[in-house]
Amino acid sequence: MQDFKKVLYSASLEAGEIIKKYFGKIFQIESKDIISNLVTEVDKISEAKIIDIIQKHFPSHSILSEEIGSLEQKSEFKWIIDPIDGTINFAHGVPICAVSIGLEIDEKIVMGVVYNPIANEFFFAENNSGSYLNDNKIFVSKENNLRKSLLVTGFPYNYSSGKNSPIDVFGKFLNLDIPIRRLGSAALDICWTACGRFDGFWEFRLHPWDTAAGVIILNEAGGKLSDFSDNPYSIYGKQILATNSLIHKQMLDVITI
Ligand code: IPD
Ligand code: CA
Ligand code: CA
Repeated sequence: MQDFKKVLYSASLEAGEIIKKYFGKIFQIESKDIISNLVTEVDKISEAKIIDIIQKHFPSHSILSEEIGSLEQKSEFKWIIDPIDGTINFAHGVPICAVSIGLEIDEKIVMGVVYNPIANEFFFAENNSGSYLNDNKIFVSKENNLRKSLLVTGFPYNYSSGKNSPIDVFGKFLNLDIPIRRLGSAALDICWTACGRFDGFWEFRLHPWDTAAGVIILNEAGGKLSDFSDNPYSIYGKQILATNSLIHKQMLDVITI
């Protein structure tokens, strides 16, 4: 595991240097499937650097990365990469973005980093070893009352309205006068829940690279993850509820009313 950790650290730190170097400067920006869904040249440079470092050390491992897609090999090891989570923030000079890399072995995430180089916040977790923000061990909050909680969410680019749609669920929490934030980086939403800043996070239709690293960071910090029917969370699934565990059921009750 020590070798995996070294590579994970070096890939995320190098990607962080790239993000820092370009942050607030001029770079190319393109639209993806819809006009507001952006990719910058920095996403691509960061992704190429991460993949290069991983492949130099582990050429037989699989890779799943947001911009390049799947580089599948016959291997139980898969590195799941978001070269910049929070691209729209990054493109607008909003300092809430991060590189996110998770390592999956036999379909189980065993290690992850979420690194916001602008804020100098490096979240790391490894199976059964706790979660860290820089050098400090982190834990989820102890809030057990949903009405006193601070929540965070995000919205997919396309969504229909109607019962149990993203807007409907958002409205249900708002109607309870619960404060809700929207950071624009799902990886950081999960990590900020892991370190107790938020008490709970939910979102529809994320991708594996948004949450692969975050899930182990939250789990190791004492949090709970599920889908909206309280089934175990899968990074390949379409719903995420991530909490300090104490308000998990209360949030599920609101989501499913
Ligand atoms: C996005 C962010 C955002 C979430 C979007 C994601 P990206 O990732 O995590 O918080 O609401 O659904 O696509 O595009 O910045 O890597
Ligand atoms: Ca993302
Ligand atoms: Ca991204």
